[in-house]
Amino acid sequence: MTSKRTERLLKWDQEHIVHSRCGIGGNIGVITDKSHGIYFQDTEGKEYIDGASQLLCVNLGYGQREIIDAVYKEMDRLQYSMLFHGFSNIASIECGRKLSELVPEGLDHFNFTSGGSEGIDLTLRLARLYWSVKGRDKYKIISLYDSYHGVAGGGLAVVGSGRGGYGRGIIPLMPGFVHIPSYYCYRCMFGKEYRNCNVHCAQYLAEVIEKEGPENIAAFIAEPELGVGGMIAPPPGYWPKVREICDQYDILLIADEVMTGFGRTGKMFALEHWGIKPDIMIMAKGITSAYIPFGAVAFSGEIWETLKGRNLVSYTYAGHPVCAAAAIKAMEIYQRDKVVENAARVGKYALERLKRDFEPLPCVGGANGLGLMLGIEIVADKATKRPFDRKLNIMQRIQDSALEKGIFLRMADISSTPSDRIVFAPPLVITGEEVDKALDILFPIVATLKPS
Ligand SMILES: Cc1ncc(COP(=O)(O)O)c(C=O)c1O
Repeated sequence: MTSKRTERLLKWDQEHIVHSRCGIGGNIGVITDKSHGIYFQDTEGKEYIDGASQLLCVNLGYGQREIIDAVYKEMDRLQYSMLFHGFSNIASIECGRKLSELVPEGLDHFNFTSGGSEGIDLTLRLARLYWSVKGRDKYKIISLYDSYHGVAGGGLAVVGSGRGGYGRGIIPLMPGFVHIPSYYCYRCMFGKEYRNCNVHCAQYLAEVIEKEGPENIAAFIAEPELGVGGMIAPPPGYWPKVREICDQYDILLIADEVMTGFGRTGKMFALEHWGIKPDIMIMAKGITSAYIPFGAVAFSGEIWETLKGRNLVSYTYAGHPVCAAAAIKAMEIYQRDKVVENAARVGKYALERLKRDFEPLPCVGGANGLGLMLGIEIVADKATKRPFDRKLNIMQRIQDSALEKGIFLRMADISSTPSDRIVFAPPLVITGEEVDKALDILFPIVATLKPS
């Protein structure tokens, strides 16, 4: 029996509050109330394992007292301070210094934001301004079909209105964007098999650049591992080839590390897996473990020197001292508690278990991903890789069943080719025993799926 208080709250919520990916006027009847470690609790006292770090953002789990105290202390001292008109604040400066210890060498010039979407929009302006100051009219941006880069104007245009795009129905989108197939080997859009393909999806970038004219292309932007698109990691040769092509054609390489950054893939930033340095890198989510909205765009010395003295207008809350204080403390915790190393170790353990126990199941096409950014491909027919008929609502049923049994899991479904993937991406502080506890709940749900 749901309490009267929860019922009242849910009714008001349904009548007034918008929820993403739920449909306006809807909710699922869960009001989160408290949290600790890898768990959150609803207003009825039911506890859930957070199997997705909510939006892959609560990287340090819940209840990190030091971040809470740092926020309180800074708020008590300085409630707001702009970075406009040349003013600065201590927390922003210290945050930049701390961040420069973590980012790839040379990427130590920062513009702060309140989140990922703002970072993407600012990055697009930054990239185009860079070329314009150099006297070159390079403005087109190339991105991947299956990517997600937020829902502000620029991000929507990067994502596109095409297949799988969140920009669908919101037209006209900003012009000047070109979309190409991604690196989803299991369902290769070129119909190729990995190992015999010579990483064609990366090579294809060069073909598109030639077609569009290198003199028109400002940048290539992508997620190092597809996040919202399904926790899909690229084949090993992908990023080195992409870096090579960008250099060859004098095109900026932009890494959207909003989801992959801060240890999610078992490295501080995901492009470290391939030893690649982007020209611009966008961060958010894990930078404060989502305790408070914050983000940053890091860019190279070459861009900084080119733009020196120019006016790059940012946001009201850019460099908010309270958010910067939270980020400093979160970064200290990542380093001190070896959180990234834990993500790599426990992620490897989780993936081994997914491969051993889940992959042989009749409706599992495969399990993959880096660190604690893992995806389980659900198929109706293993031989043909055909997903379940949408009318069966299989993924919603998996999610509902998991929630009922006490674990929140995300389902991914926006890839350009029809596909269904269960996301496993708990907080990076999770232990091996907690991984087992989570997967023990999920296993019987997946094991009962029948091919159709
Ligand atoms: C890769 C990536 N970029 C950008 C964003 C947008 O970030 P935000 O929701 O903070 O605006 C997200 C959000 O999930 C993301 O995963």
